[in-house]
Order: sequence, then C-alpha cells, then structure tokens
Amino acid sequence: MTTAKPPSSSSQAGEFDLGALLAERGGERYELHTKYLNHQLPRMLHTIGFDKVYERGEGAYFWDADGNDYLDMLAGFGVMGLGRHHPVVRKALHDVLDAQLADLTRFDCQPLPGLLAEKLLAHSPHLDRVFFGNSGTEAVETALKFARYATGKPRILYCDHAFHGLTTGSLSVNGEDGFRDGFAPLLPDTAVPLGDLDALAGELRKGDVAALVVEPIQGKGVHEAPPGYLRAAQELLHRHKALLIADEVQTGLGRTGDFYAYQHEDGVEPDLVCVAKALSGGYVPVGATLGKDWIFKKVYSSMDRVLVHSASFGSNAQAMAAGLAVLSVMENEQIVANARATGELLRSRLSALIDKYELLADVRGRGLMVGIEFGRPKSLKLRSRWTMLQAARKGLFAQMVVVPLLQRHRILTQVSGDHLEVIKLIPPLIVGEQEVDRFVDAFTAVMDDAHSGGGLMWDFSKTLIKQAVANR
Ligand SMILES: Cc1ncc(COP(=O)(O)O)c(C=O)c1O
Repeated sequence: MTTAKPPSSSSQAGEFDLGALLAERGGERYELHTKYLNHQLPRMLHTIGFDKVYERGEGAYFWDADGNDYLDMLAGFGVMGLGRHHPVVRKALHDVLDAQLADLTRFDCQPLPGLLAEKLLAHSPHLDRVFFGNSGTEAVETALKFARYATGKPRILYCDHAFHGLTTGSLSVNGEDGFRDGFAPLLPDTAVPLGDLDALAGELRKGDVAALVVEPIQGKGVHEAPPGYLRAAQELLHRHKALLIADEVQTGLGRTGDFYAYQHEDGVEPDLVCVAKALSGGYVPVGATLGKDWIFKKVYSSMDRVLVHSASFGSNAQAMAAGLAVLSVMENEQIVANARATGELLRSRLSALIDKYELLADVRGRGLMVGIEFGRPKSLKLRSRWTMLQAARKGLFAQMVVVPLLQRHRILTQVSGDHLEVIKLIPPLIVGEQEVDRFVDAFTAVMDDAHSGGGLMWDFSKTLIKQAVANR
C-alpha cells in the first residue's frame, strides 16, 4: 500500500488572474447582465438612475469609481449585518482557506459545524440542535419539512404579507400574490392575518395543521406581531399539537435589538427557528434551522434516515468559519446593544418629523429595522399630486423618496415591498450617530423638496407614472 504525500502548499495558482479579468472586462458589467442574466434588473436600474459603478466597500459605506462615498441603509437585504469586509470575518476566511482542511468529505465529522451550532444554540437555550443549509429559503424549507414530519400533519399556516423565500415550499407560505402568480400549484397551505388569534384557532380546529410560520417583524411593510401574539399563538399551537416556527432570517442576529426578535417578549419559545443572511458575514451563503431535540430525533429516527434531509454544501468550512467569526464579533463589539441604541436614536429623530411633514404618516420598527410610511397629505396642492401617483400605482411616492436619497445624498435604501408607501431601513448593525445624522439630514432635505410641491422630485414622478402605466 502506498501513502499519498500531501501536495506542497506552495503550488501556483495557475493562469487565472481575477484582477486582470476585472480590469479588462469590469466595464462591461451592465451589458453582460443584460445579455446573460435577468435583463429586467439593468433595465430597472437605468430607469431610476441607479446604474452606478461601485468599486469598493467597507463597513457601512461603499464607493463609486470617482471616489464618492455611499451610505448603505440596505445591507445587501440584510446580509451585511456587520457591514462589508469586517476584518475579523476576513481573517477567519483567509485562515480557513490557508488551513486547507479536508472539508466536505461527507463521511466524517468536522469540528466547525459543531462549534457554530453550540454558539448559536447558546443564544436560544430552549433549542437543542441545528441543521445547516445554504440560504434563508433553505432554512425555511427545512423547518417546513421537519414540522410536517414531526407532527405527521400536512398543512402550514402563514401570515398575510409574509415573506419566507422564493423556492417552491417557501413560496407556498408567501403572503403576496405578486410572488405566487403563475407558479401554481403550490402546497395547500393557508394564510391567517398577523395578530388574529381567532383565525389561527379556527384553522387549528381542523386538526391537520403542522405549524405556523411567522416573522416576528414582517419584512414587508415592517409590521410587528402585536404584543402577546406570539406567546398566545404558541400556546394555541401546542394545544393542537402543532409547532411555532420563527423565521428570523431577517430579524435574527441582533437586527431588532435582541439576539432573536422573538426574545423581545418573555415566554416565547419557538419549536423551530430559521436564520441566515447576517450569519454569512456578507461572504459565504449559509442558512441554519434550529430546533428542539425531539423534532430532530423524529426526522433522523434511524441510521437509514441519516441523509433524509441534507445538502451537499451544508456545513462547509468557509460558511462555518464566517459564522463563528460573526458571532464572536457580535459578542466582542456589543453589536446587539448598538442595534438597540442606534435604532432608538434613528426612530426618535425620524418620529420627530411626523408633525412637520404631512406626507409622513408613521415611523415604526425595532432596533435597526425601521419602517417609514407615507400617507395622504391634507393640503389640496399635495393631495392632487399624491392622488395622481396613487392612481398610477401604489408605492410610487416611496420610490420617489428612495431615488433622490441615492442620487442626491448617496444613501441606499429600498421600498419595503410592492405597492407599499413604506421605506425600510436595515443598515449594517455597526452604524452610529454619524450615520443617523447623515440619514436624517438627507431625509429632511428630501421631505422639504417633496412638500414644496414642485422641483425635480415631482418632475421625476412623471417618469415613474409613465413607467407604471406602460407596465400594466
Ligand atoms: C424573513 C425572510 N425569510 C426568508 C428569506 C429568504 O432568504 P434567502 O433570500 O436567503 O433565500 C428572506 C429574504 O429576504 C426573509 O427576509
């Protein structure tokens, strides 16, 4: 028998030169996307003037080719929880690559998944085990499958306006027709209004419900479960031998000022918890489904069933190293406390503007998950413009605010879902007073402009109206 020698770690990287490739062809980015990827993205970006060339990112900022800085209040839909290129996460990734581990043999037990599971579970002591996948939607799919198998019942309840991902199982619990249309038949799951315990009880009485899946704060519109709802829902579910699934893909890992958003109220102990996004450190896609021991023991009830739910890339060393580094930074840099304090500052500064601006209807959320809602103005002059926009398409005013925030103030935000007059702010959790000042000053300037009833902003509304009408 011969023993293979490990190859020398000094072997050359070969011919491939990423820097040269980017230098040579980086300028073709929009054409390449139009030709080979989802062509509607560059089309939309051209329409609203978001077709920039960004070159570098760090923390809560990124820079364009001319060296202008942009404040990121979107965090890559939440994946940049620690901002871009956190040095501790970068170092962990360099280290794990340099370690040249024998990863993904699939028939051994690596140390990093166990260590990351231990750390995640330490933040939710009532849970016992973790399944690692590769995205938020996969974390939700896992929870849906585990709930069905463990309870032996088929139906999942979800909330109106819910968002849990876009693969077919997660789409079956999506509360928005715009995402579902044309993809039927989906799983025969059922929507209930967020906060409506009677509706929940009515469905549970039918006896076929495996679980309720719920975002403690809905990403769409930034709507929070009413006080006491999660706990009462949990009690009802358990009485009917059904499970509570908390989807913390967006709200988890400190975003709302608690490690998990369900922890805002005492006594809420979901049976399954889904996380993803920020656990990646902004680098390596990852998803995790945390659950109670009895659920995992049922799903993996015998050796024959060892692979009954698994993923080829699940638990890969890079994702695990990034996750461990993220959790370490969260502890050492008091990320959760910062999200709570900075979020309160941001919301209180924005709430103070409600009396000043008639188009501003509400500021809500928790921690650094903030919703700004616009509403029908009282004065005649603004009301006619508002009505015109609403007639073309609901959500256009919020879009009108997002555009100058980027164009004139170099701040990236998003409208919080189709047909909603709500902007959602989910910045990296490392932002502080400086970023709050910059955002509030810019937002005030945009609101001043909107309330003047004229100017560039309302001119731009004509483009949006034309586009909305053409898209019908
Ligand atoms: C609450 C929630 N669940 C699930 C998902 C899906 O995550 P992913 O895009 O990683 O599949 C998202 C994504 O935005 C989300 O916000």
